Amino acid sequence: MRSPGYVYVVSLLCAVGCTTGDAGRREVAVSVDTAEESGPSDPVKSFASAQIDDGRRTFRFDTFGDEAFWGDTLQLHLAIAGAANEGVGGGVSPRTALAVGLKVDVDALPRSLRDALAQGQVNLDDPATTLALLQLNAVVGLTGVFDAAGSFRTMGIQCALCHSTVDNSFAPGIGHRLDGWPNRDLDVGTIVSLAPDLSAVAGLLGVDQATVRAVITQWGPGRFDAELFLDGKALGADGKPHPTLIPPAFGLGGVDLHTWTGWGGVSHWNAFVANLEMHGQGTFFDPRLDDATRFPIAAANHFGHVSTPPSQDRITPHLAALQLYQLALAPPRPPAGSFNATAANRGRALFNGKARCAGCHVPPLYTEPGWNMHTAAEIGIDSFQADRAPDQRYRTSPLRGLFTHLKGGLYHDGRYATLGDVVAHYNAALALGLTAAESSDLVEFLKSL
Ligand code: HEC
Ligand code: HEC
Repeated sequence: MRSPGYVYVVSLLCAVGCTTGDAGRREVAVSVDTAEESGPSDPVKSFASAQIDDGRRTFRFDTFGDEAFWGDTLQLHLAIAGAANEGVGGGVSPRTALAVGLKVDVDALPRSLRDALAQGQVNLDDPATTLALLQLNAVVGLTGVFDAAGSFRTMGIQCALCHSTVDNSFAPGIGHRLDGWPNRDLDVGTIVSLAPDLSAVAGLLGVDQATVRAVITQWGPGRFDAELFLDGKALGADGKPHPTLIPPAFGLGGVDLHTWTGWGGVSHWNAFVANLEMHGQGTFFDPRLDDATRFPIAAANHFGHVSTPPSQDRITPHLAALQLYQLALAPPRPPAGSFNATAANRGRALFNGKARCAGCHVPPLYTEPGWNMHTAAEIGIDSFQADRAPDQRYRTSPLRGLFTHLKGGLYHDGRYATLGDVVAHYNAALALGLTAAESSDLVEFLKSL
């Protein structure tokens, strides 16, 4: 149905078209669109915007059905509740939760609770308070499932657990969500070690539960070993665990391969994690995991061939929107005054020139357009972690927003404590001949990204 307004504009179009030719006709045709519609007129933008809302919901709140694992199987919820609240042990108070890096979303708290918190009237040492926060859906990345009587029945985890933090605007660990910022305070291993029943994990790895706890509690804040459940390499040749740091999930648009070792594109890894690490209910295909020599646990358990009937698949229907959401997360700008702009400008010239950084970290993506992968030898480090991934290489890290994840160190395992240490490494390994002043300018440039 055309509105009378449309008819009027069309006749105008004809009249103008007759006198001004094609250019004039096009101009008037544009005004036909805007005259006709009151809402957003661009179907591409409205689709993208709806998908981004959908992806954000998934990223923040979707458990993909993984409560069957974290609650029903590992019974982590019982350890959080504590014996006083129908669980086991001492329970996890808000103070303990914040100490192991869990974050609280201030926007999920009712005003009365915010006021009480601000006035120190909330008992942060009582696990019952943690349960109240879970009921408000205020603990970033964790969902508690409560029955009608208010009993804590089970729980699940979300992407946001590891890939979001908060801005601490209310108090340390309590603030507005910052999606895509890696939570470098989060001690995943210690949190998982609290679960009363780790027999499922122990069985998979072929060890006892005490061994699982001993390994994962050594991971430390901001770290997780995603490859452990594929290759069983709990320890390296040095007898120590080798978890990787949680990387940022912002600034990924235009970046070809993802994860420190380039397992695949964003959507590959999203499906991988949701199925194999979070233990959601879905479908995943990656026959590279059938290699029983390199991925003995994955091959024995057919992790490359996970299938769920479409009607029960809770992951695949979310992948498109989830990917778009991550691609829409812009790298945050470093705070004003956090670097010396003049030195950073000199550093930029070095980055693109004498220091040869831009040969791999190609601006403005700061990774290679194309196959962004390098051997360990090319960057002057060992190949332990690279060898745990299909292509046996390290992926060139995109460098924007570095200031958000300096905690825990740089490179996949945080082996370099500071940006200065990274530059010193390249200076030696690639024989760059940078002076102390040049190295310092390069660091200022990295801080400005
Ligand atoms: C338990 C913590 C944890 C959870 C939960 C988690 N991730 Fe990750 N994520 C990691 C770690 C650690 C890596 C690095 C893995 C590696 O390199 O081997 C990673 C890597 C990534 C990357 C690659 C980023 C890059 O470097 O380019 C993306 C994208 C990502 N995760 C998205 C997600 C999404 C989406 C979800 C939810 C479906 C999710 N993650 C759940 C810890 C987690
Ligand atoms: C041969 C390609 C190559 C060159 C040249 C190179 N890089 Fe890298 N860069 C990489 C790769 C690959 C990684 C990922 C290492 C890892 O995963 O441990 C990386 C990681 C980094 C990181 C750590 C990022 C993070 O999130 O932890 C920084 C910082 C960095 N490079 C800066 C530089 C600077 C500065 C130069 C120039 C002096 C440079 N790179 C030269 C390939 C390169």
